[in-house]
Amino acid sequence: MPLTESDAAALAAHALEYIRPGQVIGLGSGQAATAFIRALGREVQAGLRVTGVPTSEATATLARELHIPLASLEDSPSIDVTLDGADEVDPGLDLIKGYGGALIREKVVAAASRRLVILVGRDKLVAVLGSRGKLPIEVVPFAAGFCRRRLTEEGYAPVLRMNGAAPGVTDNANLIFDCAVSPITDATRLDGTLRSIPGVVGTGLFVGMAHTVLVWHEGRVTTLSRSEASLGWV
Ligand code: A5P
Repeated sequence: MPLTESDAAALAAHALEYIRPGQVIGLGSGQAATAFIRALGREVQAGLRVTGVPTSEATATLARELHIPLASLEDSPSIDVTLDGADEVDPGLDLIKGYGGALIREKVVAAASRRLVILVGRDKLVAVLGSRGKLPIEVVPFAAGFCRRRLTEEGYAPVLRMNGAAPGVTDNANLIFDCAVSPITDATRLDGTLRSIPGVVGTGLFVGMAHTVLVWHEGRVTTLSRSEASLGWV
């Protein structure tokens, strides 16, 4: 079952344990990340001094409303910890992200972070990445037709992400194709294959990036970390 608002808030409160005064914090995008940003905002208003690096314009707007000081990656190239959500988490803590559309900035911020902490409900845990059948891919608009044809030829049945009647445009002024995938046997290889198509900016596959996953299930938080990840759960 997806996280309710109060589940997300409880999970976010738990995630505050990963924050220390003075840190630079990557601020993710989506429901779980938004709950965390709200919890962090309350701490900042109570006197905590931290700096946030946002992964989307929506997150930046929320953080400003909550008076969380923000920096760009140019100002703060090294991030202590990033808190974000995910759409799928496999037993090795590899992820699919981007159902909400912020995948490229999320991946850049994650790559610049010493630690990536992912907040999810139990429903996001999968035995194999691709189990939910969808992989978002961001492409530059000039290459949209070319990428659509190439992805179709390769069997990914790309569907252009829409925002109402018009194509959805990302914060990077690009487009997203939601590609149909079956369970992915080699995520690193698939990511490389897709990124080798000219015009593809990046995919929602986050391989080897998450250090810790906090899972909310029936009122409790379970902490999975990379060293324990090989134990699996499904
Ligand atoms: C944003 O584009 C995404 O990568 C989100 O981080 C991911 O989709 C999870 O979001 P929710 O917490 O809203 O499920």
